[in-house]
Amino acid sequence: MIKKKGIIVAIDGPAGAGKSTTARLLAEKLNYDYIDTGAMYRAVTLFALRNDIKHTETEQLVKLVSSLNFEFKNNGTEIFVNSENVSEQIRSAEVSSKVSDYSKIAEVREILIQKQYEIGEHGGIVMEGRDITTAVFPNAELKIFLTADLDVRAYRRLIEMRNKGQKIDLENVRNNLETRDKIDSSRDVNPLMITEDSIIIDTTKLTVDQQVEIIYNKAKEIIKSLNLHSHHN
Ligand code: DC
Repeated sequence: MIKKKGIIVAIDGPAGAGKSTTARLLAEKLNYDYIDTGAMYRAVTLFALRNDIKHTETEQLVKLVSSLNFEFKNNGTEIFVNSENVSEQIRSAEVSSKVSDYSKIAEVREILIQKQYEIGEHGGIVMEGRDITTAVFPNAELKIFLTADLDVRAYRRLIEMRNKGQKIDLENVRNNLETRDKIDSSRDVNPLMITEDSIIIDTTKLTVDQQVEIIYNKAKEIIKSLNLHSHHN
């Protein structure tokens, strides 16, 4: 049996709530791995668009997703698919506008959820997305629902995209977040929702450091109570 490396921290929440930044910094502090599951759904979307497969073409989509090998590098900040670094391409406006449609497909989710489970099952991981607390790790030791007001989320995302040199306006970003939230929360399979045992953190008025600190303290409490030691290199 493989010894458990640490707890599982599962973070869900709407688009642009700061899940990626928070999860990455938290993982660094805990010396855990960080996994951005949204990057996997985005990568599927990118490859489907390249291969001209519509989200309604389930059979081709399943074949495609099954042929994809996902690797995270650079502390989880870069994603390689079949050895190609697609970290930038998956953030394009086109992928952002189509990803929620591909994410609705049950067969796609089934494959990705299984892969995500295998990545994190031994613990020592911070995983974020839309269904980590509900479908991937319903037994996670720590569950967080990270949220913020739509306007604040849109503004933060705008700054992030402009810093990367993308030309986009606030209205566009806001519309994309709003549309994705609607689709992601109302789909039939694994919709975004708040579990009863999740801690809700509204980051509207918090700094990144503050939100990381809140979750870090919770994680430390749990690790202590379970008598696990956060592992150091
Ligand atoms: O985290 P993100 O905004 O990069 O995610 C992009 C899309 O991927 C999101 O709008 C819905 C989908 N997604 C999902 O359905 N389930 C997840 N666990 C993560 C993302």
